[in-house]
Amino acid sequence: MANEFSRRSFIKGMALGTMAGYFGSAGLSSTVFHKQMMPKDNTKKVDIGQIKSLSVKVISETSWFNNAVLLNDIKKSGGLLVNQYEIPWTVEGVKEGYKGNNAGGFATLIEFEELSGKKHKLLLDTGWNVDWTDKRFKEEGIDKMLANKEIEALIISHEHFDHYWGIEATTKYNPNIHVYVPKGFYQEGFDLLKGKAFPKAHVKNDHPHTGKLDVMDSSKIRPIYPGVALVTFDVPIITRVFGEQAFIFNIKDKGLALVTGCCHMGIITYMEFAKKRIVGGEKIYGVQGGMHISPFEDWDPQYDDLVLALHKYGIEKLGPNHCTGYVTAEKMIAAGLPVIKGTARNGSKRNIYLGNGDKLVFA
Ligand SMILES: [Fe+2]
Ligand SMILES: [Fe+2]
Repeated sequence: MANEFSRRSFIKGMALGTMAGYFGSAGLSSTVFHKQMMPKDNTKKVDIGQIKSLSVKVISETSWFNNAVLLNDIKKSGGLLVNQYEIPWTVEGVKEGYKGNNAGGFATLIEFEELSGKKHKLLLDTGWNVDWTDKRFKEEGIDKMLANKEIEALIISHEHFDHYWGIEATTKYNPNIHVYVPKGFYQEGFDLLKGKAFPKAHVKNDHPHTGKLDVMDSSKIRPIYPGVALVTFDVPIITRVFGEQAFIFNIKDKGLALVTGCCHMGIITYMEFAKKRIVGGEKIYGVQGGMHISPFEDWDPQYDDLVLALHKYGIEKLGPNHCTGYVTAEKMIAAGLPVIKGTARNGSKRNIYLGNGDKLVFA
């Protein structure tokens, strides 16, 4: 029965494919074809509410200090599909590293105000190298904000070493903090949160988490405050990581602001999701964070299409950093996209985009 069904679906699909080919050769655009032939997308948009204002401060976008060293660690261990906890990452002897350690990490402070005037602070990701992350936390006062519970929650975008393994830098100041992780976390990730060490990968957590833990799946859009939602994407990611979540904010009189960690789901997928599924999605006002286009500063001609595709969204504030890559930022600027410049301080190498200690005020 199942076979019969799939066989019939296949034949039906083939017929549609042939028709698409016919319409194409008849000079009808695929958009016209799509509108005429495909069932209407009846997915209802979700109203997440609105906020009054939002600002995002980059605490560290420097995930590692030397690309070649990182790539060599991965290569020596068997390649990009190897479990990140099984890789003996280089933690000493790197000239550009922090005290010789190649690990840095990614962390971002998010501040927003509800329409009622109530203010909130959240931390997106918690770095990799605990010493580096702690140094950046102290320089930006994050240590105090955590200790006095001003920062209400830690949102982990995904399980990658450079976003999550510095967990101790957060839990040492507030072990009871509310943590949100995306579905797809491996047992190692949960064990690390609870205090397990992984000596081979040089990762540990001497300050076990004692607070509330939410695992967010992709079945729903989750408003965590009025006007603030987390969305999760089921995406397989290099070094055996799975799943990534990101923010969608709805700013009154401005539009949506999207804030991401690494964006392994793809920047277009993320924006299309917001556009189609969130009330107010017709206006994407801004995007900030790692956009995962050329993290290793390579360039593929298809990335040009991606940069050009960003134009159609009418974004007013674009704050790429981290795994977006400098080469991508150059292309974005050349294409006339509104990339916000940084100040090249605190370990960030170039001012082409927002770096460590730079703040993007959306509204
Ligand atoms: Fe990353
Ligand atoms: Fe990542």
